[in-house]
Amino acid sequence: AHVWRGLIEEYRDRLPVSATTPVVTLHEGGTPLVPARALSELTGCEVLLKVEGCNPTGSFKDRGMTMAMSRAAENGAKAVICASTGNTSASAAAYATAAGIRCAVLVPDGKIAMGKLSQAVAHGATLLQVDGNFDDCLTQARKLAEAYPVELVNSVNPYRIEGQKTGAFEVVDVLGDAPDIHCLPVGNAGNITAYWKGYTEYAADGVASRTPRMWGFQAAGAAPIVKGHPVDEPETIATAIRIGHPASWTGATTARDDSGGRIDAVTDEQILEAHRWLSAKEGVFVEPASAAGAAGLLAAARAGELDRGQKIVITVTGHGLKDPQWALELAAPDGSRRPVAPVRVQPDAVTIARA
Ligand code: F0G
Repeated sequence: AHVWRGLIEEYRDRLPVSATTPVVTLHEGGTPLVPARALSELTGCEVLLKVEGCNPTGSFKDRGMTMAMSRAAENGAKAVICASTGNTSASAAAYATAAGIRCAVLVPDGKIAMGKLSQAVAHGATLLQVDGNFDDCLTQARKLAEAYPVELVNSVNPYRIEGQKTGAFEVVDVLGDAPDIHCLPVGNAGNITAYWKGYTEYAADGVASRTPRMWGFQAAGAAPIVKGHPVDEPETIATAIRIGHPASWTGATTARDDSGGRIDAVTDEQILEAHRWLSAKEGVFVEPASAAGAAGLLAAARAGELDRGQKIVITVTGHGLKDPQWALELAAPDGSRRPVAPVRVQPDAVTIARA
């Protein structure tokens, strides 16, 4: 059987590494492409979920981090820094540990899911909560990386995009060609930029016969690209994509325009409905932001904007265990959002059977 060696070894000839690059890996990538039966039935399309929560730290960020950290190690970096809504910091902290490099992370005050915070702490990163939002954090991280001997590992680091483009490679390698449509959430816009790079490289080399239409979805309260101007005070329950000044703005609009795709907004209600749909109908547990792609697809299907018979891949970007509180609240049968508690029973089979 083929043993997955991490994405740098699997795609070495398509990545900017050399024989002497020290590969920093936690064997990321190779994530499952899972058929979404209920979404397929609703849309009349073949819908598949690229489940990025199966990466080592539970999100797609690991794809970029293996590349960024390997190149940082090659440059002799002693420290890395990033701004993050949570997943980047968890990933940077883990890969810095694997590399033996110090890591500092800047996170927005009070808007980080507990799972992500605990990862950064557990991996020994220096965690600084900034009195501001993600965009403020990124501004400061960029300044620090310019003024001090510390490497920035946000997706403005081109190696991050290089690593993340392998998500598209894996989709094509499994399906045998590119899908018709690729849906995903958009926050700082690195991932849509990266997928588009991966798809266009495979098409240029004839590995795929075509590229998909890229469908990106922002949260309605944090939808600068949809609105066409930055948003200074982004708000959404999907904290991972609570971003008003996306760094890879032009990467996202290029992906949209060159692919004949779209970038639309989905409301928090639509995101939470899609989160519940993925958990309860598909069996795939994601964090709220990760449901934005499915929310957008559901909205398009219901609006009659989706032709039947297409092949559609949705990247679900992060694991549900990152931010589990939502699941307990959304499962309330009366819609009250009161966290569901287990039914208490005595250890007696007869009473348990009646419960
Ligand atoms: N989904 C999740 C779970 C994320 O954590 C992010 C970004 C996105 C989607 C959006 O991806 O920024 O490439 O458009 N999280 C970053 C972070 C900002 O700091 O973890 P994007």
